[in-house]
Amino acid sequence: MTILQKLKERFSRDSVTLDLHDIQALILRSRPEPYVGIHAMLHFDEAEGARALLGRLAPHIASADNWNEDLDFWIGAALSFEGLKALGVPEAQLKTFPLPFQQGMAARSEQLRDFGPNAPENWEDVFKPGNCHLALTIYAVDDAALDKALATARTELDQSSGVTLIGEHRFGAPDGAKNPFGFRDSISQPAVEGSGVDPLPGEERAIKAGEFILGYESENGQPLGMPEPAALGKNGTFVVLRKYNSRVGCFNAFLKAHGETAEDRERLAAKMFGRWRSGAPLTLSPDHDDPDLGADPQRNNDFNFKDDPKGRVVPLGCHMRRLNPRDSELTLLTDVNIHRIIRRSSTFGPVYSEDVAPKDDAKGDRGLFFIFISARAYDTIEFMQQEWINRGNFVDLGEERDPIVGLHEEDGRFTIPQAPARKRIDGVQTFNVMKGGEYLFMPSLSALKWLAEQR
Ligand code: HEM
Repeated sequence: MTILQKLKERFSRDSVTLDLHDIQALILRSRPEPYVGIHAMLHFDEAEGARALLGRLAPHIASADNWNEDLDFWIGAALSFEGLKALGVPEAQLKTFPLPFQQGMAARSEQLRDFGPNAPENWEDVFKPGNCHLALTIYAVDDAALDKALATARTELDQSSGVTLIGEHRFGAPDGAKNPFGFRDSISQPAVEGSGVDPLPGEERAIKAGEFILGYESENGQPLGMPEPAALGKNGTFVVLRKYNSRVGCFNAFLKAHGETAEDRERLAAKMFGRWRSGAPLTLSPDHDDPDLGADPQRNNDFNFKDDPKGRVVPLGCHMRRLNPRDSELTLLTDVNIHRIIRRSSTFGPVYSEDVAPKDDAKGDRGLFFIFISARAYDTIEFMQQEWINRGNFVDLGEERDPIVGLHEEDGRFTIPQAPARKRIDGVQTFNVMKGGEYLFMPSLSALKWLAEQR
């Protein structure tokens, strides 16, 4: 049974309180499995042509209305601040957007800890400040569906003047939902209140919709601040897009240096992520992978860390536990529920192999577009980058960083708590190197039309 078929069974229109017809599908729809797709980046050369393109594209952007139904493909659209400016949105309205969005991702490198190899001067040209105005994403179930979607988008683009396609990047994970390191991802997602599906076991409770979509009550009981006017802000949201090249060869070499047998290496990798390759959580299967568990949404996220306060099963510093500490006791107190994110990342490059060597990393052909959606996306990503990814104080690990996405300018360390003495493994490197990114606004469908009609 596919993810969508399972969703269909859980969907009930009676519990919908969101304006699904006005919300972009990409916000609520999980990726298909397997999936293919494309990210296309466009630059607006002049306002009139750009507005005309938005008007032509708007009818092709899928709504979340039938978000639980089977679709062959769906297209999503998001704009950068420079994109809104280039469309001619008046200053008074531009000023109502969050400051980090106005500044753009590159200008926020200090807050994002994007230094050294991750610094904006090393980014691809498409992501250099001011270049990417519109990002289109297509998710499709197979190549034929993707070609259909592309033909639609290209027809609209070919009829447009004043718009330049500055980047196109195909992605896809033929092998289930495995990322460049051969691990299944996008498993743990928050349930969104009012979207029509109840939380899965382990999701505890649905999170208030206002945490993810503008104009609804958030976890603090009020809607979060929204761009004005409401015709522009309501039912929209914010998106963080970060393109990483994955150094799978270095990662393999690290595992080989610290694991004598294949079993040791698999265990170490699972300790670094917090799950086995299949997605089976270490908490529920501490000693070996369990593909049936990994593939079962009723069970694969149904755990917390109550019985593992010291991280002897799931290390406190592993990627998954850092980015959602669930009920872990934190030294730096944080409301975990306001840092939940909807992840819509996409993997590119060849399927994982343990034979990939460090010299292969120079090709830069493996990686992922890390994409997440949240109505407080910029506060969340900057907090995560500073506290949860590039430090370890919040779980008493000093300056230790995330072993998967941390920036390790010198060799880093990964601690595996165990009795009688914890194990410290040195030699962690920056296994994912930033190639660029942008802060984006994903308007509602009516706001896309509204933007197209502004003069
Ligand atoms: C760039 C390379 C990355 C890789 C290869 C990666 C991989 C993974 C994997 C395998 C999981 C566990 C399965 C799942 O629930 O999806 C996971 C979980 C997660 N990752 Fe990442 N990730 C990456 C980047 C990031 C970044 C940059 C962030 C945040 C800024 C992030 C946030 C999360 C979150 C929130 C979870 C879910 C934790 C939970 O709810 O249990 N990831 N990631």
